[in-house]
Amino acid sequence: MTADELRKMYLKFFEDKGHVSISGASLIPENDPTVLFTTAGMHPLVPYLLGEPHPSGVRLCNCQKCIRTGDIDDVGDASHLTFFEMLGNWSLGDYFKEEAIAWSFEFLTSKAYLGFNPDSLVVTVFQGNSVVPKDEESASVWKKLGISDERIFALPAEDNWWGLPGAGPCGPDTEMFIDTGKRPCGSNCRPGCSCGKYFEIWNDVFMHYEKAVDGTIGPLKQRNVDTGMGVERTIAMMQGRSTVFETELFAPVIAVIEDNSGHGMNENDEIRKAFRVISDHMRSSVFILAEPQGITPSNLGQGYVLRRLIRRAIRFAKKIDMKVGFAGSIADCLIDSYKHVYPELAFVRRDIVQKLTAEEEQFEKTLHHGMAELDKVLVNISNHAQTVLSGRVAFRLYDTYGFPLEFTEEICREHGISVDREGFDKAFGTHKEVSKQNKAFKGGLADNSEATTRLHTATHLLHKALRMVLGDHVKQSGSNITPERLRFDFSHPAKMTADELKQVEDIVNDAIRRKLPITVETMTLEQAKDSGATALFVGKYAEQVKVYSIGDFSKEVCGGPHVRNTEELGRFEIKKEESSSAGVRRIRAVLSEA
Ligand code: ALA
Repeated sequence: MTADELRKMYLKFFEDKGHVSISGASLIPENDPTVLFTTAGMHPLVPYLLGEPHPSGVRLCNCQKCIRTGDIDDVGDASHLTFFEMLGNWSLGDYFKEEAIAWSFEFLTSKAYLGFNPDSLVVTVFQGNSVVPKDEESASVWKKLGISDERIFALPAEDNWWGLPGAGPCGPDTEMFIDTGKRPCGSNCRPGCSCGKYFEIWNDVFMHYEKAVDGTIGPLKQRNVDTGMGVERTIAMMQGRSTVFETELFAPVIAVIEDNSGHGMNENDEIRKAFRVISDHMRSSVFILAEPQGITPSNLGQGYVLRRLIRRAIRFAKKIDMKVGFAGSIADCLIDSYKHVYPELAFVRRDIVQKLTAEEEQFEKTLHHGMAELDKVLVNISNHAQTVLSGRVAFRLYDTYGFPLEFTEEICREHGISVDREGFDKAFGTHKEVSKQNKAFKGGLADNSEATTRLHTATHLLHKALRMVLGDHVKQSGSNITPERLRFDFSHPAKMTADELKQVEDIVNDAIRRKLPITVETMTLEQAKDSGATALFVGKYAEQVKVYSIGDFSKEVCGGPHVRNTEELGRFEIKKEESSSAGVRRIRAVLSEA
């Protein structure tokens, strides 16, 4: 059975049982600032689980794209994925345990559907705690269906209680596993064990509780069912595979990786892990990039998770000798294998490939220096028989080389070294303080990230180029820079012509190509003025200021920060020129890879 067949069969099964098949939601939650990604099919349904009537009724089913990065370090084993598809059926105050479990059992074991041998099925139920009693009812339904006592495990809340991290609907669940027939790894081996004997494929949650903001659990007025079946895991079991990576969902992308790297996936454990991490992380990245919210790799929120996924994939790609530029070909392959189910992927193919390639190239540049730096630090640490990398150094790697913290931690772990997280947080806090001060000073840097810094240097080039093309009347009247783009407001009485814009772009790109060094000197404002630096020249003339020079091209009073050489900027492109207010024009521009 293929994933395509499974999706269809599941939805048809539940439609036949009175459910309405609704479409899946975006991976980026629309109305929930507390989580970055949609982590389960129930997520977009929270208001309805709490009692609001759903326009499609009380029985729903769908297939939902999900992202979960909490287990990112486990990716590489047989079953963990950061992106996966979840099939689900819901009762919004309608049917409850008896029907839900019976239908799960029917779908799993009936020859007309999945046809698993009932003897290979193992289930878990909630064992109870001081707040909620043991789920005897679920256990007894399973028994009635023919599951014997020794294949029903009662486990604590850690395993058999489900809800979103914050407040909201929650409840005990019953999870379904396929016993793969492997020998138990020890006397404690039970469903949930990571040895691979038990493969979880489905979860029925009985959401008749609600967690309040203060964490207390109380009954919900409505008794709901929320189920989730993992598409990748279920077809792996249907196809008699021991991992999700051996299914048709991964075969094409693995072929691309084999082709590019010249390695076979199963050469050894390390190579196998790299294949799995790359294919999983790239799949997540492609799906995140396809969402209409336009998430791009950055140092904030979803963009940060995306950056971490891409950069982690790149690190593993290096381990298996993949060639630079691999991200685009993997993305193309993934889009081709999924576009019949998720047409949105194909609509934005160029954009996805372009963003991945840009991030790959950007990271390539910094990775080289960063790894060399980290290697030095690691040698130093072990020479001194130490086991901890300081938070300050971890922060430097993050800030200067774009190493996500988790990334530094993972490399350190491979060397038996831990990272001082507290120290990192402290350094990060100080850095935010500094950024804030910079912001107050410059009025326009969103953060101190590499991307923002590059755009800041580009702003100086733009400022100078505008004066060269339009004349010395051009004065900066505002600047606002985020990691994604720069926005520059300047005095000029008329709309710029296409020719003028082209000239400005060419001048900036020429300055970039000339690999001009950026230097900084401290002097009084008066000296700055005499030296020909551009500035607003407000404030006391005796005040000490920093003057940034870009080769012989520009000189500006500025608080920084800037890159060291214009060669770090890539290609400069003006996206828009428009009126900002009377006599003031506004340019939006970006940097992309050269
Ligand atoms: N919401 C439940 C889960 O994700 C079904 O496991």
